[in-house]
Amino acid sequence: MALLHILHYPDPRLRVKAAPVDQVDEAVRRLVDDMFETMYDAPGIGLAAPQVNVARRIIVLDVSEKRDEPLALINPEILHQEEREKMEEGCLSVPGIYEMVERAARIRVRALDPDGRPFEMEAEGLQAVCIQHEIDHLDGRLFVDYLTEMKRRRIRKKLEKLRRHTM
Ligand code: NI
Repeated sequence: MALLHILHYPDPRLRVKAAPVDQVDEAVRRLVDDMFETMYDAPGIGLAAPQVNVARRIIVLDVSEKRDEPLALINPEILHQEEREKMEEGCLSVPGIYEMVERAARIRVRALDPDGRPFEMEAEGLQAVCIQHEIDHLDGRLFVDYLTEMKRRRIRKKLEKLRRHTM
């Protein structure tokens, strides 16, 4: 296993639309393991492959209190969503920034597991938010895109300043 480098906003590579995985093989499983290690180490509750510069439709998450319920979704698709709710979000690619975002409160998702088997699941609350946030990454979308241009500009400035001080 290996820790992967996480890209930071406004890196243009975070804007690439990720391609579907056509075969869940050993290389994909290795990537999933490395993504889990990177996510737990960060620490974060979710990570999408484009954040570690791999333009493939793979996300990992763990929203459990004890951090012992890893969930990997390959080629995830939202089949159904209902109700809306606002929750505070952050992102490993936008360090130190937390803002309220409105998303579906409950979703039904279809994906492949790390053995290549298709499955469906329902999610709500934080898990539903996290899955939608990570799927956005696969389409080159970031949670800051839901904010006003003024807020986004302020965040960019803050991150640029942070970068200057941590070289
Ligand atoms: Ni994120």
